[in-house]
Amino acid sequence: MRTWFITGANRGLGLEIALAALEAGDNVIATARNPQQIGEAPEGFADRLHTIPLDVTDRAAVDEAVGAAIARFGRIDVLVNNAGYGQLGAFEEIAPETVSRQFATNVFGVFDVTRAVLPVMRAQRSGHIITISSIAGMQGFEGSSIYCAAKHAVSGWSEGLAREVAPFGIKVTCVYPGRFRTDFLDGSSVRYGDFAIEDYAEASARHRQALDANNHRQIGDPRKFAALMLALVGAEEAPVWLATGSDAYAIFANKSAALADNIEQWKETILSTDF
Ligand SMILES: NC(=O)c1ccc[n+]([C@@H]2O[C@H](COP(=O)([O-])OP(=O)(O)OC[C@H]3O[C@@H](n4cnc5c(N)ncnc54)[C@H](OP(=O)(O)O)[C@@H]3O)[C@@H](O)[C@H]2O)c1
Repeated sequence: MRTWFITGANRGLGLEIALAALEAGDNVIATARNPQQIGEAPEGFADRLHTIPLDVTDRAAVDEAVGAAIARFGRIDVLVNNAGYGQLGAFEEIAPETVSRQFATNVFGVFDVTRAVLPVMRAQRSGHIITISSIAGMQGFEGSSIYCAAKHAVSGWSEGLAREVAPFGIKVTCVYPGRFRTDFLDGSSVRYGDFAIEDYAEASARHRQALDANNHRQIGDPRKFAALMLALVGAEEAPVWLATGSDAYAIFANKSAALADNIEQWKETILSTDF
């Protein structure tokens, strides 16, 4: 039996992962800004589900939540850094404080929760840290440069962290979901720019229309995503990168081909700067 610690577990991917872990017979610490939205534990699961209020931008609350998790179950085997939202819109249309808010949640929240959990996992000499990045953490998309920046940050961090903590038996996987049918594009979650700049008007309207049209119609099934997370923690070897969804597969394939082309095309230049 494993113990999971999941952020943003009240809806979307986080809730589905929590339910799948309970179904699998594991213990779940489900954290959320509004833990009452997690609802009642399905019948028979109440003793394995512990809910804790947690806004990941509140560092004191993060430490308290990890302390409460240990008090309840004594260990944390899997941390899922899931809480996050999309700050979309063109870079120039987003105010600096809005950028800070995006990074406070999607980047520094991830760092703070992981910093609080790592001593527990190091003492155990085992654990698996799963961070939900995005296809936006592998490729830059027009109209989401700030969200891409935040997701690229946790992607690069995961790669470095994986090497730092491997000696302690701790695995790190960065997951890159494609488009999944959650509230991600819903007005209750996603944010757009703070002000309009005429030069971006047409592109911004086009993006917004496309994203609104995709709201709750995304190709990815959150339940299948959650099942995959269960398979991931059960696997002997954990990949550092895991794309999920056919769209994510295509993004990874395009990016790796583009990188291969880039270094071939610029090879002489690239190799020209060594002493
Ligand atoms: N769905 C997709 O297409 C997709 C694709 C790539 C990556 N992702 C990533 O997947 C993760 C989950 O998103 P989702 O698709 O499940 O979207 P969602 O349905 O909008 O759920 C987002 C979750 O994050 C929580 N959250 C946001 N800010 C938080 C904070 N400061 N502290 C604690 N919790 C916070 C939300 O809590 P509240 O209910 O309180 O707002 C909610 O539980 C996110 O990191 C997202 O970037 C999603």
